[in-house]
Amino acid sequence: MAKTLIINAAQIATPIGFHARHGAEMNSLRVLDNGAIVVENGIITAVDDFSKLRNAINDTDEYEILDASGCCLIPGFVDSHTHVVFGGYRPQEFMERVNGTPYLEILNHGGGIQDTVQSTRRLSENALTALTLQKLDDMLEQGVTTVESKSGYGLDTDTELMQLRVNRNCLKSHPITLISTYLGAHAIPQEYQHRSDAYIDRMIHTVLPEIKAHHLAEFCDVFCEDSVFSVTQAQTLLTAAKSMGFGLKIHADEILSLGGAELACALGAVSADHLLAVSERGIQMLSKSNTVATLLPNTAFCLKKPYAPAKKMLDAGCALALATDFNPGSCYTDSIPLLFALAVLQMGISPEAALTALTLNGAAALNRADRIGSLEPGKQADILFLKSPDYRFLVYNTCKNQVKKVMKNGKLVYQSHG
Ligand code: NIG
Ligand code: FE
Repeated sequence: MAKTLIINAAQIATPIGFHARHGAEMNSLRVLDNGAIVVENGIITAVDDFSKLRNAINDTDEYEILDASGCCLIPGFVDSHTHVVFGGYRPQEFMERVNGTPYLEILNHGGGIQDTVQSTRRLSENALTALTLQKLDDMLEQGVTTVESKSGYGLDTDTELMQLRVNRNCLKSHPITLISTYLGAHAIPQEYQHRSDAYIDRMIHTVLPEIKAHHLAEFCDVFCEDSVFSVTQAQTLLTAAKSMGFGLKIHADEILSLGGAELACALGAVSADHLLAVSERGIQMLSKSNTVATLLPNTAFCLKKPYAPAKKMLDAGCALALATDFNPGSCYTDSIPLLFALAVLQMGISPEAALTALTLNGAAALNRADRIGSLEPGKQADILFLKSPDYRFLVYNTCKNQVKKVMKNGKLVYQSHG
């Protein structure tokens, strides 16, 4: 039996629980000085002062000992909303947006997501897998141990299925756990222009059953937005997906307040994401539901939009997750340090709430709070060793990567050279 003992940690900081934390609960972490962690077969079995753990351990010789002197230990980050599988880049469009052209205007003129669709359709599965693995390496270096990965840059059935197979290929060959989401409803494919209801129909009757049959995705998502998919279309698609056993996610109220958050709650979605323009009613409904409100401040920053009302949602009692939304268009950055900086310095939530949002609540946004997202007995040993002795350095040492080592399922999978 593989047993590891991590000792001498300057600090251990973690949210506690097997469900999402709501509102003010997000501000309380368990913080231990000089802590130790016992890992057996990839699972955490104890977290405590070493002096206390010692009595429970018969023979330390049975353990591989890891010294965490000078390090704060925190749970691996769960990036619960990304579009990491894509071909090509869009620097030209970035500059158009910097100079004032709205995101939806570019999309409606055949650019934006449609541009990436063309570049992705041109790639082979092997090429797309290789590109994705490189991106995952960059995420791992920043402490991400679980990533949600959406399709949505194929739109046609073959390329959508290929994107989902790329997720599966990466899951097999990379330490990061990838969780697949089908986002065929990311844009209206050129082949279905002015026939978006027919496209919804095709997704329901052809694509979703095929994905289900091959176990290629766990969640179904939709970009519910003016001139993309309406609330009614989102409802039709998601209701069908739910009846087939998919978990639900929604790109909700990103640019206009259409009622995406309300729909997410009504359908029992695991998360409603973006929420820059969420309504008062949407906030109230989220606060009373199990739907996690996933905020993506890196995107608001890159689109030069006002941030989602994080503080207000927290005060109302919502469960907030934070994720990068890494994609080649609205947010070409997977930066975790930027995410912390924006959450705390711009959106006004505490470092404790930000850490909870990127660990335990991110896990809840993927139906995995029972397995990951905190450092406590029973959870998977996905553990970050920070270069610094205190979790607040995640914000205080602004925009600098704090990750020194990454443990995944009890094994060290990354070590920084810096
Ligand atoms: O979450 N809003 C829709 N989808 C992505 C952007 C995708 C893109 O621009 O390529 C988002 O921001
Ligand atoms: Fe997104």
